[in-house]
Amino acid sequence: MVKARRFVLAKHFVGEPKEDDFELVEEELPDLKDGEIRVEAVALSVDPYMRPYSVNHPVGTTMFGSQVARIVESRSEAYPVGKLVVGQFGWRERAVVDVGKQDLTGLPKPYIVPDFKGLSKSLALGVLGMTGNTAYFGFLELCKPKAGETVAVTGAAGAVGSTVGQIAKIKGCKVIGFAGSDDKVKWLTSELGFDHAFNYKTTDIDEALKKAAPNGIDCYFDNVGGKLSSTIIKQMNNFGRISVCGSVASYNEDPSNLPEAPIIQRAIVGKQLKMEGFLVKRWSNRWLEGINQLLQWIVEGKLKYNETVTRGFENMPTAFIEMLQGKNVGKAVVKV
Ligand SMILES: NC(=O)c1ccc[n+]([C@@H]2O[C@H](COP(=O)([O-])OP(=O)(O)OC[C@H]3O[C@@H](n4cnc5c(N)ncnc54)[C@H](OP(=O)(O)O)[C@@H]3O)[C@@H](O)[C@H]2O)c1
Repeated sequence: MVKARRFVLAKHFVGEPKEDDFELVEEELPDLKDGEIRVEAVALSVDPYMRPYSVNHPVGTTMFGSQVARIVESRSEAYPVGKLVVGQFGWRERAVVDVGKQDLTGLPKPYIVPDFKGLSKSLALGVLGMTGNTAYFGFLELCKPKAGETVAVTGAAGAVGSTVGQIAKIKGCKVIGFAGSDDKVKWLTSELGFDHAFNYKTTDIDEALKKAAPNGIDCYFDNVGGKLSSTIIKQMNNFGRISVCGSVASYNEDPSNLPEAPIIQRAIVGKQLKMEGFLVKRWSNRWLEGINQLLQWIVEGKLKYNETVTRGFENMPTAFIEMLQGKNVGKAVVKV
């Protein structure tokens, strides 16, 4: 019998998640049936969505999420022992999974990590995986940026935002990013080629935008929601496009009593803006197209990435808590 550890939701979060909201439990894994594989986690993802999604799950649920794992036993020909696989296996150090079963996320079924040309396989959780594709499809398909246009992105130093800003540069746009520390802002302009970046915690956003984007904003990639987004939307040009990716500014709030943001309808009507939300699973059938393009840009030196790595499976809660506090630059991952 193989022993395995997993994290369960011990309490529903109130405000910021805390270490004792999680419980580490140990169990014995069952023997494999046909169509199943046994995996050992190599790298696990911590993502903002885990905070709001937890509300819909009862206490005792295994924390959900994706990981890159090594196949150590297999009763499925398409998933040979020794290969690395990406799947929604949850916060589990070891697991037995049915690879034929589509899970409820609507994301692609477990797949063998493609050839990343020598790059770290953990990128399958970030720039060459879910967050990369969120940036790639969510920005290009919804904002439809044209060369010469001005793009604003919030959550700009995070996994999705840092990729969006660089894709916008690749497409010939002027890019303005907002992030939560001076170090992040410096990274965006000096390393990633953003034209302007601002610390949204210390900057007068209205004034900064008037200077950085005197001709207005054509595309806004919204990762955060709230007042910051309302301020940006008010400075958009006619027929501007807003891709609504997330609202991390509200994730720690009580969902039945969310904070109010300044009204944006006047700008949407007056400027005839188009605002559309999305879930990246919309492009599940084009998953590898996105990953291949992102990989090519990395190989060509056009796209950079950063991972904030926490070591040790037992530190999953810490990595998750710190990511929500903004301690990550680029993708937050846990390496076992
Ligand atoms: N629609 C989809 O399919 C999809 C898929 C993936 C992700 N998302 C969304 O995309 C957004 C970014 O996700 P990610 O994985 O790239 O995470 P991330 O940006 O790497 O990490 C989360 C970041 O949120 C920022 N943050 C925390 N509290 C904030 C607040 N009150 N106001 C503004 N920013 C705050 C922090 O950066 P600062 O230091 O800058 O505050 C933190 O680093 C999230 O809203 C997420 O839910 C959506």
